[in-house]
Amino acid sequence: MDIFHTIPAVRDFVRQARARGRVVGLVPTMGYLHEGHLELMRQAKKQCDIVVTSIFVNPTQFGPGEDLATYPRDLNRDAAMARGVGVDAIFNPGVEEIYPPGYSTYINVERLTEKLCGAARPGHFRGVATVVAKLFNIVRPDYAFFGQKDAQQALVIKRMTADLHMDVEVVVVPTVREQDGLAMSSRNIYLNPAQRQAALVLSRSLNKAAAAVKAGQRDVSKIRQLVVDLIRAEPLAEIEYVEIYSYPDLEQTKVLDGAALLALAVKIGRARLIDNIIL
Ligand code: PAF
Repeated sequence: MDIFHTIPAVRDFVRQARARGRVVGLVPTMGYLHEGHLELMRQAKKQCDIVVTSIFVNPTQFGPGEDLATYPRDLNRDAAMARGVGVDAIFNPGVEEIYPPGYSTYINVERLTEKLCGAARPGHFRGVATVVAKLFNIVRPDYAFFGQKDAQQALVIKRMTADLHMDVEVVVVPTVREQDGLAMSSRNIYLNPAQRQAALVLSRSLNKAAAAVKAGQRDVSKIRQLVVDLIRAEPLAEIEYVEIYSYPDLEQTKVLDGAALLALAVKIGRARLIDNIIL
């Protein structure tokens, strides 16, 4: 497995693969890999001949006071894990490689980004869309793989690729969970044992909502309230948002009459955790 730190080096690698007729997959990550990332890579290996994983903690998607400086980083550990699932190359650029001095072009996906994490983290999706567009332009993958845990991110990236006629197919892979239901996240490392236990309230509340829908509940505000009440009963959990929108358009809805996204963001200690389910 190769590790490239510069754009020309990774481009050269992909160009050579393409010249041999290889299908190229990209798994964009910010590193500190976990089983959720590895699942994206396994899916990529199934669908593509060559898999490139980017590891880049993208500063433009962090807001002031967020965890950019402390976001966990460990390239040796990540490289061993990526190699273990057959990744062919890691692209690990420095910040100046991606945002050279004078950099001033950003991508803004409208509407979809005005709610949920977009409302809670102003500028976040501008940073995500910008870096993903750059990675697509650098690697020029045939397929790119994202997790359903970041449901809004996946929708934003699909919107961007369609709107900007990008020649890449976005593949969304189901959320990978720990055995007890906690969605895998690099930020789970911030949780101490008591907080880790408290964090189970996220998946528990999603399951409770799904059970209510299965039992016939269609009133969106009642389903939402079930989730809010359960999370509020957990003293270590602080709700940032609990919302239900039509899926995939993310429009307001009062009654469930088609697919809907129940998404939540909850702070537990210094970890901001997100999770979701399609109802
Ligand atoms: O999901 C992530 O890890 C990041 O938002 C991404 C897509 C790698 C862009 O920095």
